[in-house]
Amino acid sequence: MKIPIIVDGQMVQVDQGAPIIDAAKKAGIFIPTLCYHESLKPYGSCRLCMVEVVQNKQRRLVTSCNFPAEGGMEVFTNTDKVRQIRRMVVELLLARCPDVPLLKTMARQMGIKSSRFKKREANECILCGLCVRFCEEVVGVCAIGLANRGIEREVATPFKVASDVCIGCGSCTYICPTGCIEMVPDEKTPRLRIMKMGNHPLSPCPNDYQCENCSIEQEFLKDIKDVIVEFRRSYRNSER
Ligand code: SF4
Ligand code: SF4
Ligand code: FES
Repeated sequence: MKIPIIVDGQMVQVDQGAPIIDAAKKAGIFIPTLCYHESLKPYGSCRLCMVEVVQNKQRRLVTSCNFPAEGGMEVFTNTDKVRQIRRMVVELLLARCPDVPLLKTMARQMGIKSSRFKKREANECILCGLCVRFCEEVVGVCAIGLANRGIEREVATPFKVASDVCIGCGSCTYICPTGCIEMVPDEKTPRLRIMKMGNHPLSPCPNDYQCENCSIEQEFLKDIKDVIVEFRRSYRNSER
């Protein structure tokens, strides 16, 4: 069922329960995200996509990537509070990942000159979980996961050894917005099966991270589906 919802003063019709970010997209309004990808289930972890919602005369902050649209709802995507939270998210991430081009671009767009938070040992993983979820939800093999807690949190293979379930499809390296997963060829097998996690030089995105309209992204998603279908077919055949 379609319902009307107002986003920054514009009325749009969306499916009831669709995430607010879809309504904003329909209204032509861009909401920055880090852990969201339209091919994956919403995760709601980075908090960058916060918006203000007025519903039943109550105003509150919600994450637009996983908050369901309801009839009569009014959404504000660019209020002082929203901008403040987005700045804080980016500054916190900059303290952990000062060299990541995507964060630097976001900081520049938000007018952030430096992070007010204490710098930690430089890391390139922003812990968005996109690689882990793509591997599980789209590829279907769960070769990597988020391990440890707090400042020790990291993406890793189980026991930090080369995975024996990884099909070497490269999806995790592609989807990672910071380029901190690198695939390296394994001499013993024809397919790429070893993953080396860690920092490596990153070419900035040629499309300024506008993934939604990027032809490279669309072609990749099509290619990767073919690779996965082929892998599953050969896997089933080898089990017979
Ligand atoms: S290369 Fe391996 S870890 Fe990465 S998405 Fe594919 S199967 Fe998962
Ligand atoms: S390795 Fe990349 S995709 Fe995976 S959690 Fe870290 S930044 Fe996100
Ligand atoms: S994009 Fe919504 S919480 Fe990360």
